[in-house]
Amino acid sequence: MNDVFVIRQEKATDFSQVAEVIELAFRNMEENDHTEHFLVERLRESDAYIPDLSLVAETTEGQIVGHIMLSKVKVQDGEKVFTALAVAPLSVLPEYQRMGIGGKLIREAHRRASELGYAVTVLLGHKDYYPRFGYKKASLFGIRFPFEAPDDYCMVAELKKNGLEDLRGMVCYPDAFGL
Ligand SMILES: CC(C)(COP(=O)(O)OP(=O)(O)OC[C@H]1O[C@@H](n2cnc3c(N)ncnc32)[C@H](O)[C@@H]1OP(=O)(O)O)[C@@H](O)C(=O)NCCC(=O)NCCS
Repeated sequence: MNDVFVIRQEKATDFSQVAEVIELAFRNMEENDHTEHFLVERLRESDAYIPDLSLVAETTEGQIVGHIMLSKVKVQDGEKVFTALAVAPLSVLPEYQRMGIGGKLIREAHRRASELGYAVTVLLGHKDYYPRFGYKKASLFGIRFPFEAPDDYCMVAELKKNGLEDLRGMVCYPDAFGL
């Protein structure tokens, strides 16, 4: 089933379909404010946007059924500032979920990010989903987030061996996140 989907970089002509995928993916989630598609629009206008790391999953018929965006964040520890990537948002159309598309998007985004030289990703997400892609509790590494969220949901992953070594501090999101 996985082979039916192609993962590729998003194009400007995809933006309206991508917004729809995001809106539909998050529509039934009670714990969020259903504005993720606006976040993506703001990020695309910001310095944090990395076009190479905003990916879509497309069917052979050209329908976009999934999307992931990795954008730049800082991890700040006093004078020391490190550029990492935030994974946000990740979306798969409800009728295409549990087919491995989310996993495929994450793995491919990680692979491309690593090729571009990034070493660490951070996210706020489901504690039972992301560990299978290498995510661990950020607090284990002394990495903090600028909002109240359960410790288990604030996660980090290494894209390179020892990427998290000597890295600690506060994650500083770009203004686009509206935090
Ligand atoms: C989370 C999401 C991207 C996963 O995409 P997907 O293509 O269904 O994921 P995959 O097929 O790669 O993986 C499916 C597995 O993840 C699990 N999973 C999916 N969502 C989960 C969640 N919220 N919590 C825990 N596990 C979850 C499924 O139970 C399934 O597990 P299994 O393989 O043991 O059966 C998709 O469900 C989605 O778009 N959800 C709404 C938006 C959202 O929550 N985005 C992430 C914000 S952190």
